[in-house]
Amino acid sequence: MRTRNWISIAALASAMILGPAQIGHANDVDKRMAGMSAMQKRIKALVPIMRGLSEYDADAVRSAADTVIANSGDVMTELFPEGSNAPPSEALDTIWEDWDGFAELANALAVTAEGMKRAADNGLGGNQTGQGSGMMSDSAPDTALDADTLAGMPVDAAFAAMTKICSSCHSKFRAKKF
Ligand code: HEC
Repeated sequence: MRTRNWISIAALASAMILGPAQIGHANDVDKRMAGMSAMQKRIKALVPIMRGLSEYDADAVRSAADTVIANSGDVMTELFPEGSNAPPSEALDTIWEDWDGFAELANALAVTAEGMKRAADNGLGGNQTGQGSGMMSDSAPDTALDADTLAGMPVDAAFAAMTKICSSCHSKFRAKKF
């Protein structure tokens, strides 16, 4: 009994602290964290492949690309309702101040992932010490390349272009950086 009372008091207290808006957003924050983490996990697993350290696996590249596609674009932006950055969220207010810029990067992620998927059969460029192999590298091309262009490139170059979008968005719109 006593325990149950304490639980409901705690629930009530947190409802008062957070307010109805934040409680409504909690689900979106959880969902976007889950999506981000899923992408991160797939990308980490691709790094040794892209560096030529483990055997090249085009299917692994395509399937990782699908995970990124499934969590980017509108799927991503819909999980960022205005003001949904109460702690512990690391989302910055700049998201809603520059919504177009934010949405553009969410879409660019889908486009570059599509390009990488189509480049999977091209294999590596063989430039393993160069720009193409860097994860979240700032030395990758700045321009958001279209899927057709990326589809014609070595897969590691397409990978670099895609992960560049992750870090561009984080450096602008997320408090903690990679
Ligand atoms: C359009 C912007 C944008 C793009 C593109 C983007 N992210 Fe994020 N990411 C964010 C924001 C904003 C947060 C912070 C969300 C929060 O704390 O509420 C975040 C958080 C994360 C987190 C932390 C999740 C957690 O549980 O704390 C990881 C990991 C992550 N992103 C990985 C990635 C990867 C990998 C990519 C590329 C495949 C990517 N993100 C692309 C905006 C983006």
